[in-house]
Amino acid sequence: MSEELIKMEVPVLMETLERMAGEEPAEEPDPALLPLNLPGPVLVTGAGGQLGRELVRVFREAGADVRAMTREDLDITDMLAVEDAIEEIKPALILNAAAWTDVDAAEAEREDCRRVNTLAPVYMAGLHVPMVTFSTDYVFDGVGRTKRYNERNRVNPLNVYGNAKLDADELILGLGFEHGAQGIILRTSWLWSEQPGTKNFFQSVMRRIEAKKELRIVGDRVGSPTRALDLAKAVLVLVKKGAHLKPYKIYHAANLGSCSWAGFTKEIVRLLNGHPEEVYPISTQQWQMSPENFGKRFAQRPLLSTLNCNLLEREWGVVLPNWEESLKEGLDAYLQMKKDGVVFDDPDEGAEAAGDAK
Ligand SMILES: NC(=O)c1ccc[n+]([C@@H]2O[C@H](COP(=O)([O-])OP(=O)(O)OC[C@H]3O[C@@H](n4cnc5c(N)ncnc54)[C@H](OP(=O)(O)O)[C@@H]3O)[C@@H](O)[C@H]2O)c1
Repeated sequence: MSEELIKMEVPVLMETLERMAGEEPAEEPDPALLPLNLPGPVLVTGAGGQLGRELVRVFREAGADVRAMTREDLDITDMLAVEDAIEEIKPALILNAAAWTDVDAAEAEREDCRRVNTLAPVYMAGLHVPMVTFSTDYVFDGVGRTKRYNERNRVNPLNVYGNAKLDADELILGLGFEHGAQGIILRTSWLWSEQPGTKNFFQSVMRRIEAKKELRIVGDRVGSPTRALDLAKAVLVLVKKGAHLKPYKIYHAANLGSCSWAGFTKEIVRLLNGHPEEVYPISTQQWQMSPENFGKRFAQRPLLSTLNCNLLEREWGVVLPNWEESLKEGLDAYLQMKKDGVVFDDPDEGAEAAGDAK
C-alpha cells in the first residue's frame, strides 16, 4: 500500500479500498424524493429566529405536522413548561433553534446565556425525544490556524457564548454515549437569512447599501457564511435518513468555502452590479474603536473559524452549497420580495453591521 493511502483517514481509505474492489457505493436517490416518516409532530423551539423560521417552513413543506414555538410561546429555560409542551404535543422530534445569540451581551450576562445555551438544551436532550440542536464555530479559537476545523480538532472558545455552547455539546454527547440519548448536534457558522424580520449581517449590509452608506467592513476574520435555508434543508435530509435516531454525534454543517465579512459584502455588491472596490476592509479593532461603537464592550472572536464539513458528507451524503451560490440565490429571493412590496422592518443596526456575527 502506498504511503499516500496510509496517510488517508480511515473512512476515506475504506471508500478507496471498496472502489478498488469494484464495490463502489450505489448512487443515492435524490434526497428531496425521500419520504419523511415521522411518527408524530415536530416541535420547533426558537421558531421566531432566522433558523427557526426556515426549519418551520422546510419541514411544513415536506408534510410534517410542525408545532412552531417562538420564545413567547415557550421559554426553553422554563423546564416545567418544556415538559408540559412535550406531554401535550408528544413530538417525534425536537428542532431546537432557540438560543442566546447576542455574543457581546453574553460577556456581561453569563448566567442568562448559559441557561439558554447550556442548561436548557442539555435538559431537553435527556427527555427521551430525539432532538437536532445547534452549536457554533466559536468553540474554536482560530489561533495560528490556516486550515478548516473538523470535528476532532482542539476546541478553545474565546468568549462566554462559545463556552456555553461547548459545554452543551459535551454534556449532550455524554448523554448519548452513556444513556443512548438520540439526536444530532450541528455546528454551524455565520448564519444569515434574506427573510424579512430577521437580524443578521446580510440584512445589515443590504440596509447600508440601500441607504448608500459607506461600506467599511471587517476584513480580518474568515469563516463560512451559511444561509439559514440551506441549513434547514440539510436538517430535513438528515431526519429523512434517520440520523436523529442514533446516539448524539457532532457534525459540522456550513455552506462550502470561506471569506471575510468584507469579502461577503464585496460579493453582494458585485452581484448588484456595483463597485466591489468601494467596500473598504477594516480590522476588527478598527471596527470596535469606530465612533458608532464608542463605549461598547465586545467579546473576543476567532480570526479563522471555517468549518470542514466532510464528515457530514461522508456519513450522510449531505453537502451544503458553496456560499457564493447561496448568496446569489438568497439575494435574488430578497430582491424579488422587495419588488413584491414585502416590508422589511428595520431593527437596530447591531454589531453584525460590520461583521460581528455569532
Ligand atoms: N447566527 C449565527 O451566526 C450562528 C452561528 C453559529 C451558530 N448559530 C446557532 O444556530 C442556532 C440558530 O441561530 P439563529 O441565528 O437562528 O438565532 P436567532 O435568529 O437569534 O434566533 C434565536 C431565537 O431563539 C429565541 N430565544 C432566545 N432565548 C430563548 C428562550 N429562553 N426560549 C425560547 N426561545 C429563545 C430568540 O428569541 P428572541 O429574539 O425573542 O430573543 C430567537 O427567536 C443557534 O443555536 C445559534 O447559537 C448561529
